[in-house]
Amino acid sequence: MTRPAAGTPLSRVDGRLKVTGQATYAAEHDVRGVVHGVIVTSTVGRGRITGIDTRAAVEQPGVLKVISHLNAPKLPYRPFRGVPDPARGERLRVFQDDRVRFFGQPVAVVVAETLEIAQHAASLVKVGYDGERPATDMASPAGSPNQPENYQRGNVDQALGRAHARLEQTYRLNREHHNPMEPHATIARWDGDRLTVWDKTQIVLNTRADLATVFGIPEESVRVVSPFVGGAFGSALRAWPHVAIAALAAREARRPVKVVLTRKQMYSGTGFRPVTEYKLTLGADQRGRLTAAVHDIRAETSVYEDYREALTVQGQMVYATPNVRQTYRSIPLDVNTPTWMRGPGAATAAYAIECAMDELAYELGMDPIELRLRNEPDRDPGTGVPFSTRRLRECFGIGSRTVGWDERNPRPRSAHDGNWLIGTGVAVATYHTQRAPAQALARLDADGTAIVQCATSDMGPGTYTSMTQVAADALGLPIPRVRFQLGDSTMPPAPPHGGSMTMASVGSAVQDTCDKLRRQAIRLAVEDPGSPLHGIPADDVVVQNGRLHLRDNPGRGETYRQLLARTNRPHLEVRGGYTPGDEVERFSTHAYGAVFAQVAVDERLGLVRIRRVLGVYDAGRIINPKLAESQAIGGMVGGIGMALLEHTVTDPRDGRIVNANMADYLVPVNADVPDVSAIYLNGDDRTADPIGVKGLGEVVIVGVAPAIANAVFHATGRRVRELPITAEALL
Ligand code: MOS
Repeated sequence: MTRPAAGTPLSRVDGRLKVTGQATYAAEHDVRGVVHGVIVTSTVGRGRITGIDTRAAVEQPGVLKVISHLNAPKLPYRPFRGVPDPARGERLRVFQDDRVRFFGQPVAVVVAETLEIAQHAASLVKVGYDGERPATDMASPAGSPNQPENYQRGNVDQALGRAHARLEQTYRLNREHHNPMEPHATIARWDGDRLTVWDKTQIVLNTRADLATVFGIPEESVRVVSPFVGGAFGSALRAWPHVAIAALAAREARRPVKVVLTRKQMYSGTGFRPVTEYKLTLGADQRGRLTAAVHDIRAETSVYEDYREALTVQGQMVYATPNVRQTYRSIPLDVNTPTWMRGPGAATAAYAIECAMDELAYELGMDPIELRLRNEPDRDPGTGVPFSTRRLRECFGIGSRTVGWDERNPRPRSAHDGNWLIGTGVAVATYHTQRAPAQALARLDADGTAIVQCATSDMGPGTYTSMTQVAADALGLPIPRVRFQLGDSTMPPAPPHGGSMTMASVGSAVQDTCDKLRRQAIRLAVEDPGSPLHGIPADDVVVQNGRLHLRDNPGRGETYRQLLARTNRPHLEVRGGYTPGDEVERFSTHAYGAVFAQVAVDERLGLVRIRRVLGVYDAGRIINPKLAESQAIGGMVGGIGMALLEHTVTDPRDGRIVNANMADYLVPVNADVPDVSAIYLNGDDRTADPIGVKGLGEVVIVGVAPAIANAVFHATGRRVRELPITAEALL
């Protein structure tokens, strides 16, 4: 038997293209006659535009158009609900009125023959404002919160009244931006009433639907192409205003237009992880069993859209707690709309819940892992349905042994290394397994190679590679003879490339499609009198290395090529897909992890250095251990940033983001990331989905920040209940 490709640490099939600069990112597509659009953004955080003087800009040689609400056509902006649904409310409509809703809102676009002319002319556009002081901080009198989301089970007040131990704390997480390496960029071209867009997106079909509704044209008239995405972390899950601006500019200028956001514009032109305040009240009995939990959550949103994320999931299912109450309020502020950022909701909730569990463990004088194990549920405590798989105990067991947890002295400030205080912390990570319908197309060509297509995306996790592995196994072909293609709205539909659902959804669709294709080839052979397999029951035929043969007698068979040549077919082509069934309701399906962090803290300087992060994950089947490890490293780096560095700072006077650049917005660099590693349990959850995966892109960031915060407490005895944990907070 040849070894299956899935499960092997195959290097990225697109790696060579990427490292040699041949992978074509959104702004790099060579579109003939393309001109450049540069966006002018508002310099007040709230108010009205009183006038726009474009004379100097228009006079520049090479300037083709300056478009603002003063001269932009009225755009249809038909109602639109994205997938995933961005938010309740109305999208920002580009150049449709004089209102400024946040600092950095697009107010005009300059289109010119070259980027330099467009940039210069944009600097000459003078915009007058009638500005007011914006509300950009949840502490400011921000108006009334939106309708809360509520959840309740049991009787929380009674349980808290009887609790042996009680903890009430508020944890705050500051605003973070995704900061992918590749800036957001769009090239738009009209051919008559047909629109083609080359875009940075995690979901071509969403961009297509968005543009169709903006311009009031059929979706079939819009094609969105996005073969490579240079990181996104959620920032490309919806079409931000610049996408419509590029298309509008192209229509007005009658030329293809390219719009690339500057790094600074990325901070107001795309979403962000919202500021969240998470107040948690826990009650426990003498043996450390949780009796009650009250989660009061407040998070920012914009005034025009009510963005919500999955902040309440963990609080309902992570620990066996009979009495739970949750209230989740969004607070409208004069900011652009927040959006999903890696581990959206879950990473924020875990920070609060897992720090509170650590605090409770100390209050009870109990080991933090023991406390968690005493609250392990045997069914989903929210829904009452069984878990598909939940192997958190194993994760803790392996993790504790690997880091030597039992040897640690639990007393804070008990470990030193010279001037450094050493601490170890732990946290649980969970992320709900999401699945959505997906389709694929597979074509076997006469030369014995196959092409498999789906309109999904690869923002970095390695979709090209993992899908090639799944397809190769199902087709019985070696990796080099299979090509997986994605990122084009003309391909069979896919769900968003986010929420860790790509492998489960698209992977299952690819497997189904390629299984169908293989079976079709086998049927063709056994029914063909000219085939050495003629008359054999189809179930007795297997395909390996491109050759169909009897399972028990490999000598008898023929290759795909021979089969297609003899039957005179240029190719075989099939469509297949995956639709989640009722297992989604019958089982509670989540990926889990136990995350351990070790830190060293120099108290004189307030300096926190990560020494180690280890995650042990129950994420179902691992299609490619090398990609999975990369995902974990990336998630942990994000978690380190969340814990210690990342913070988008807004000036409350005008709503300006003061650190809108990569020098002042701090992200971890190599020296901040010394030893990070992941262990994946050898899992396979066929209840979750046909290929047995539970999703791993999100869970790997989820527990990292609380594990680090708990390690900082163990090192110093100081509880910092706000992220990032800064030097000032520790001095
Ligand atoms: Mo991720 S926030 O689902 O791109």
